[in-house]
Amino acid sequence: MEKHKQLSTPTLDRYFYLPEEIIRVLDSLEKLSREHPVNILITGRQGCGKSSLIRQFAAYYKRPFAVFQIGQLSEPGQLFGEHALKGGETYYQEFLFPKAITTPNCVIHLEEINRSEHPKALNELFSVLSEDRSIWVDQLGQIGVVDGVVFFASMNEGEEFTGTDSLDVALRDRFYIIPVDYPSPEIEKKILANKTGISDKEAALILKVVGNLRSDPNINTTVSVRHSLMVAELMAAGASLKEALVYSLSISRDVIESILLSIHVETQEISTKSNEYTLFL
Ligand SMILES: Nc1ncnc2c1ncn2[C@@H]1O[C@H](COP(=O)(O)OP(=O)(O)OP(=O)(O)O)[C@@H](O)[C@H]1O
Ligand SMILES: [Mg+2]
Repeated sequence: MEKHKQLSTPTLDRYFYLPEEIIRVLDSLEKLSREHPVNILITGRQGCGKSSLIRQFAAYYKRPFAVFQIGQLSEPGQLFGEHALKGGETYYQEFLFPKAITTPNCVIHLEEINRSEHPKALNELFSVLSEDRSIWVDQLGQIGVVDGVVFFASMNEGEEFTGTDSLDVALRDRFYIIPVDYPSPEIEKKILANKTGISDKEAALILKVVGNLRSDPNINTTVSVRHSLMVAELMAAGASLKEALVYSLSISRDVIESILLSIHVETQEISTKSNEYTLFL
């Protein structure tokens, strides 16, 4: 049987912000998880920090961590292993999932739990998430989830997602639910400045543009924290504000230019670097 290396604890993000209430609830859930099985569903819009929250939980409580893309499962059994060929012989290759559920105190992130391509692929998850916490796999026998394992699931749930892919009621029933949202502009400014090294002034400027984009009813793309971080990183690497915005966001250059113009009065930061063709050498 294929041996996987030990699952490791992720490193702590020194600049990860959450409302105090959520931090307190997570702490209570962590305590509970030492007494009985706990499943936690994190919902929220795209790029609002769901995956990072789960990773941070594992890092903070020094637990082993593993992520599984449930959205990519296309057939039952796929989480556990598959038949493979070696030297003309078939053998059963065990995947990481059985390893994760048998690793004490492991934090297991089931990503995009509402997006599984095959509804039956979720069936096997029911068994491990329910009270009996074990599953029969023909090739591996009965596998039980060991003590302290915490299942986290995440799903995008926002205006643009309502109606589609909402989570099966029976599955949702097995979770504590923590909704997360984008942080306030003040906090987002700290995130951008601290994580990328740009100045507070530059961060404020990015968020001014981003704030305009977010409140514009004619723009139907969400500008997530992931996006504002991409803009900040590009600026930290030398791009101008305009360049960073144009190449990070899937929003037309015209729209970005007009927003920049509208706030230009208050700033001289927008560089007007040349855009002529030249040799890329
Ligand atoms: N509250 C926060 N504090 C610090 N950084 C954050 C916060 N929220 C999001 N980020 C940063 O934004 C980026 C996107 O976050 P993440 O990938 O966790 O979002 P997500 O909700 O899982 O996105 P998706 O919906 O695409 O799965 C990451 O780099 C993350 O560190
Ligand atoms: Mg995610």
